[in-house]
This record gives sequence, structure tokens and C-alpha cells, in this order.
Amino acid sequence: MSKTVELIYQGTSYPLPLIEGTCGEEAVDISTLRSTTGLITYDPGFVSTGSCQSKITFLDGEKGVLLYRGIPIEQLAEHSNFIETSFLLIYGHLPNREELDYFNYHVTHHSMIHESLKNLYDGFPNNPHPMAVCSAVVGSLATFYEDQLNVQNEREIEITTHRLLAKMPTIAAYSYKKSIGQPFSYPQNALTYTENFLHMMFSNPCEDYEVDPLAAKVLDTLLILHADHEQNCSTSTVRLVGSSGCNLYSSVSAGIYALWGPLHGGANQAVIEMLQSMMEAGGNVMQFVDKAKDPNDPFRLMGFGHRVYKNFDPRCQIIKKLAHEVFDKLGVNEPLLDLAQKLEDIALKDDYFLSKKLYPNVDFYSGLIYKALKIPINMFPVLFAIGRLPGWIAHWTELQGDQDFKIGRPRQIYRGRGKTDYTPLKERT
Ligand code: CMC
Repeated sequence: MSKTVELIYQGTSYPLPLIEGTCGEEAVDISTLRSTTGLITYDPGFVSTGSCQSKITFLDGEKGVLLYRGIPIEQLAEHSNFIETSFLLIYGHLPNREELDYFNYHVTHHSMIHESLKNLYDGFPNNPHPMAVCSAVVGSLATFYEDQLNVQNEREIEITTHRLLAKMPTIAAYSYKKSIGQPFSYPQNALTYTENFLHMMFSNPCEDYEVDPLAAKVLDTLLILHADHEQNCSTSTVRLVGSSGCNLYSSVSAGIYALWGPLHGGANQAVIEMLQSMMEAGGNVMQFVDKAKDPNDPFRLMGFGHRVYKNFDPRCQIIKKLAHEVFDKLGVNEPLLDLAQKLEDIALKDDYFLSKKLYPNVDFYSGLIYKALKIPINMFPVLFAIGRLPGWIAHWTELQGDQDFKIGRPRQIYRGRGKTDYTPLKERT
């Protein structure tokens, strides 16, 4: 017999179905609540609200577990690569050789952007934030492929998926080139996904450029670690925009904007800026820890805390290890790494952070690696966006085939003025 939860309202009992997820999590299905009782729920920030049922990613915030299509993130980081992981997220299984070759071929061969699109970059000011540029350029792709935007057509979705994954590094690298006034470097099909990105970022027509295989490998691992995280702010945005029947390019464009904020993907940039301020303040970490604890100060330790992880963020653990490996291999002495470690040590012994279950998250150490790879700070959130793209595509695609599909449209509790007559201008004080 299926389980229910009983809601008693004004003396009447309403049985509400209980839904059970694969890994044992339970949810009360309130989809008929309003039609049967007239009530709505109130849950700012959707802290206790499941917006959908999904087969893509599972995470257990208490135990620090993260699975893409059932596979632990640690195994993917060690054995997979970003292209294979993207296929896994989008299509639900690890590809066989033929599937992987087909996918890789198309993601490689769609990487150029239309020459006219390059003119768009000229319309921006000289040093724009690359997240704004990337979102605008990704959104404008819809204008180039207007005849292939049918959200019900599997083949058109497949082509759009290839195009987005292929063009995103090009769009991102061009936004950087624009900001430093250098000519764009065209994509090279002989290179892997991350080699190609690094080549487009750092090569110029005046000299030879060899991609460092270590940099490409590390970047690839970081992209895997960012590839999906179930219903986070940007993914929920992509789903919400997609729920109106809006095409994938525009939905992803909206997702990039959602990711830009410092509470989400912009945190990796904010962490480095915070560590630099600490350094400028003479390395006085305690001063910042005290500020973060002060209830009257809005300052927060960037790269700390997570809505779901309440013990540790498994991605952070992998990235921290990776950071030490990269610094050792590159022979880089990064004082900000020592400062970050000091900050983590202090925070992890401090009652404030322990009692609120605030631990370093994915953004705490990732920026230090990007910095060691000579990627400019304002490009860090863009790296997050390149990584999160397969997750956005997977969720948007899942939504289109969801039997419970409805346009996203939350309710509200209105607290404004009651019905009020219009006052003509001359009578207003
Ligand atoms: N520093 C100091 N205090 C914090 C921090 C922090 N980084 N994060 C949360 N708190 C406090 C917060 O003030 C609140 O205290 P109180 O209960 O006294 O009001 C309590 O902890 C709970 O915080 P919350 O804002 O209600 O928690 P949330 O789940 O809504 O927010 C968060 C999660 C990630 C937005 C938040 O922890 C934060 O702002 N962290 C810093 C930004 C950051 O690193 N973001 C990246 C998140 S991971 C990757 C991603 O999703 O993009």
C-alpha cells in the first residue's frame, strides 16, 4: 500500500501521497493541496520544496555523496573525461565506443561560431565581464538557428546540444580575447575539449603556443566536478525558463546569468578577491572570520557554506588535493593557498561555523587552480558555466519529456495594500 501523510485542516483530514526516491529520501506530494483545501505552501528559497522528480544527479548533503547517473563523483574525476561525463549526464548512461566517437566528433566539429556573431563582441565596452558577454552571445545563437528550435524534436535538440557544448568554449575564450584586445583564435579540431579552450585563450598569431597537458587535464577534471548539481539556482532557472516552452539556447543564456551571482558560481571569483583583501590586510585572517560571524555585518566567508552539504562538499575535497598536486608539479608558490588553508583550519575549529555546519565548498579552492593556470579572475565563473553546461542541457531535456511537465509558476502570499481607489494627481500630497 502506498504511504500517505495526513494533513488535518479545519477538522477535515486530507491524505497526501508520499513519494520515495531511489536512495530513500521521502517527499510529500502537495500538487493537489490547493485544489482540495484552498491552501498553498510557503517556503522561501525552496528550502523544503522538491520542484521535480529527476534521474540525473543524487546528492546526500549529510554524508557528502554526489552521484551522476548513479556513479560517484570521485570515480568520474579519476577515470572519466568531461566529454564522456557530459554524455553520461545528458543521455543517462556511459557511452560505448561508437556513441562516444559520434558525440565527440560532433562536439568537436561545431566549435566555430558564425562569423557575423563575432560582430556582436564589438558592440560591448572594452572590458566587459565575460559572464555578461557569454550569456548574451549564447542567447543570440537562437537567432542563427531559428529553424531548429523545436523543443519537441529530438534531432533538433541533439544538434542544439552539440552546438552548445562545442561553441561554449569558443564563446568564452573570445570574450577574454575581446577584453584584452587580442584577435580571436579559431578552434582547432585536432585538440581535445580543454586543450582547444586553452589554445583559444592563450595563443596569438605572433608566436607558437603549446598547450600544457597538465593544465588541460586539470581543467578537464574541474569541469567534471562542476558538471551537475541537481536543482541549484542556475539549473532551476534553466528548467523554469524551459518550462514555458522556450528553446535551449535562451534557457541556457538565463542559466549563465543566474550562475554569475556571488552566492552561486560567482563565488570562485569572490573567494580569490577575498583572499587578496586578506593578504593586503597583512594576512589577518581572524579579522575576516570575526566579520563573517558578526550578525550586523553582511560579510560572508566566500567559498563557505552550502544549502545542501552539511558535513563536507566532496568536490571541495577532490579540488583541494588537486590544488596541492598542481602547485607541486608546476612549482608554483602561491601564498593565497597557504592563506586559504589557514582560513579553513580556523573556521573548522570555530563554533560559529561548526554549529551552522559551514564547510568549504566547490568554489573555495577551484579559483586558486585557475589562477595557477593563468586564467584571469573574472573568467572563473565562466569556467563554472562551461562545466555546468551538460547539467543544464540534461535537466532541460529531462523536463521536455517529463510526464508531470507543467509551466513553472509558483504562488505567493500577498502582503501589500488592500483594494485602494485611484487618486488623481492633483489630489495627491
Ligand atoms: N559565512 C558566514 N556565515 C554564513 C555563511 C558564510 N559563508 N554562509 C551561511 N552563513 C550563515 C548565515 O548568516 C546564516 O546565519 P543565521 O542562521 O544566523 O542567519 C546561516 O549561516 C545559514 O545561512 P543561509 O544563508 O540561510 O544558508 P543558505 O543555505 O540559504 O545559503 C549559501 C547557502 C551557499 C548561499 C551561503 O552559505 C553563502 O552565502 N555562502 C557564501 C557564498 C558561496 O560560497 N557560494 C557558493 C556556494 S557552492 C557552489 C554553488 O552553488 O555555486
